[in-house]
Amino acid sequence: MTNIILCGGSGTRLWPMSRTLFPKQFIRLFDNKSLFQLTVERNKFFCDKELIVSNAEQYFLAIDQLEELKEENSSYILEPIGRNTAPAIALACMSLEKDEIVFVTPSDHLIKNKKEYEKVVQEAKEFVNDGFLVTFGITPTFAETGYGYIEALGNDVKAFHEKPEYETAQKYFEGGNYYWNSGMFMFKAGVFLEELKKYSLSIYQSSKIAFENAKKENIIRIKYEDMININEDSIDYAVMEKSDKVKVIPSNIEWSDVGNFDSLSNELPNDENNNLIISNKHVSIIDLKDLIIIDTNDALLVSKKGSAQKVKSIVDNLKLYN
Ligand code: GDD
Ligand code: MG
Repeated sequence: MTNIILCGGSGTRLWPMSRTLFPKQFIRLFDNKSLFQLTVERNKFFCDKELIVSNAEQYFLAIDQLEELKEENSSYILEPIGRNTAPAIALACMSLEKDEIVFVTPSDHLIKNKKEYEKVVQEAKEFVNDGFLVTFGITPTFAETGYGYIEALGNDVKAFHEKPEYETAQKYFEGGNYYWNSGMFMFKAGVFLEELKKYSLSIYQSSKIAFENAKKENIIRIKYEDMININEDSIDYAVMEKSDKVKVIPSNIEWSDVGNFDSLSNELPNDENNNLIISNKHVSIIDLKDLIIIDTNDALLVSKKGSAQKVKSIVDNLKLYN
């Protein structure tokens, strides 16, 4: 089984720690390890090789961090620009045999319950062998609008709803038979490509051309003039919402997408007044509670807990420094 690791996101909600050229997945957040490194380690139990799909600019960050883990079975597909996850996964699947089972995982998530994780991965494999596209469902704890929702009946998927409006998300949250889509998928490479061809033909065709024209040395480098012709779309909209071959495995894996400082602060030690402080200076706080303080060499962020989503708007205004 091949672990396709998606590594193209920029994680703007973790600014100023996360930067365009040093995105969230490479920050050493946990015992000096990055989410990318934790992903590789976690999946080594099931996968005999990793295929990393990343932006060409992040290649050196990725190889440096893999070298530390003494990983030798890694290969790379380098994109000159991001076209979202559907093309990234398509290019990866095109480089594999059609019967190869792929486990597609983001590079920037945290999963704490390893035992349960191993269990759900094994369960998924059985559906994959029968030709299904498998998703991993997380029981929602609030009406998040940034996730996909899987409407389930046992392991069957009645519908997949990517990023609903707030009112709809609230309805799903209260509905009981909905899961968050964790963003991990398992399928046979050939089954995914057939479904992509069926539902998003232009992405399939332009990705095929880009793959055929790519420089294939020890790494596969996609050419800019081909990548630019691929329509931008996520696997969720391009395939998952449309396919009738989707199954879901309910997964109590203690999952977090560490999408912003509120979720990160749940995973790291806080001070006695519920403040998350990340700095290499000594920071003293008097009579203030529920704060997020992120101090880096060139930028300082101070935020109230609960407002961490708004960091994105700072970054949008600050493109110059990003
Ligand atoms: N190589 C590559 N190229 N990777 C990419 C690209 C790209 O153009 N765009 C995104 N990625 C990577 C990101 O680094 C991340 O690891 C993963 O693909 C998912 O992309 P996100 O941009 O983080 O997606 P999302 O968070 O908006 O939504 C997805 O994840 C949610 C769970 O975290 C969806 O699958 C949702 O349905 C899901 O709930
Ligand atoms: Mg994400």
